[in-house]
Amino acid sequence: MSHSPSGEPVRPARPHHKLTEDGRRMREVLSYSRRGSRFTPRQAEAWEAHHEAWVIPDEAVDAPDFDLSTWFGREAPLVIEIGSGVGEATAALAATRPEVNVLALEVWVPGVADSLWRCAEAGTENVRFCSVDAVWFLRNVVAPAGLAELWTFFPDPWHKKKHNKRRLVTPEFASLVAERLAPGGVWRLATDWAEYAEQMLEVLDAAPELTGGQVERWDERPVTKFERKGLSKDRQITDLRYVRS
Ligand SMILES: C[S@@+](CC[C@H](N)C(=O)[O-])C[C@H]1O[C@@H](n2cnc3c(N)ncnc32)[C@H](O)[C@@H]1O
Repeated sequence: MSHSPSGEPVRPARPHHKLTEDGRRMREVLSYSRRGSRFTPRQAEAWEAHHEAWVIPDEAVDAPDFDLSTWFGREAPLVIEIGSGVGEATAALAATRPEVNVLALEVWVPGVADSLWRCAEAGTENVRFCSVDAVWFLRNVVAPAGLAELWTFFPDPWHKKKHNKRRLVTPEFASLVAERLAPGGVWRLATDWAEYAEQMLEVLDAAPELTGGQVERWDERPVTKFERKGLSKDRQITDLRYVRS
């Protein structure tokens, strides 16, 4: 962490906040592109009803003393889902794990709003959402060995070759995840893009601290919007599971 002119520690700037020395916005390679932010009436209603209790405002994470357990109201093992979309997996999986704190990181705010009503319907009290870049969050907020489990279901495949560099699962990201997972911690992934599945296997098999590989479909994982899209195009779904040694 660097320090402000007054000597206070500050976190590195989040993506979209980084400026070049001459004050222009820095171009960054991110695993997402910004999508629309308009709410449907149902999303607006869910946001109104639940965001104060369940959504961590982006700026809150900039505070050097940001403490996740305060936002959950308790200390408990931390599970992070990256790219929770409209919250189908989040709500269902969190509902059967009341003993863990589930943090869903999703930059698409209308998706978070949909997730809020799904969590309300599922009766979860253990899910919080935040719309900052998950890579930045893992690197700058989560402590080493601070993560019990990580879920990445259907991360954008960035299927054009020139966009592959935006994929989430890279050797650098795998080593960050391995560092953040507690010993015995689990990373579960799923994709409907065969070539991305191959890349995931190659990258994760090469990570010395991770053991695992392709597994049978995780039966607790509900079929999500993006899995449905893949299935409708006859794509093969691949589930992976790795454990931090
Ligand atoms: C293809 S969608 C899959 C959504 C959901 N998991 C599903 O199965 O329907 C990928 C999602 O990941 C989100 N995302 C991608 N990179 C992210 C990042 N670095 N931080 C937070 N969210 C991210 C995108 O906004 C998008 O909603």
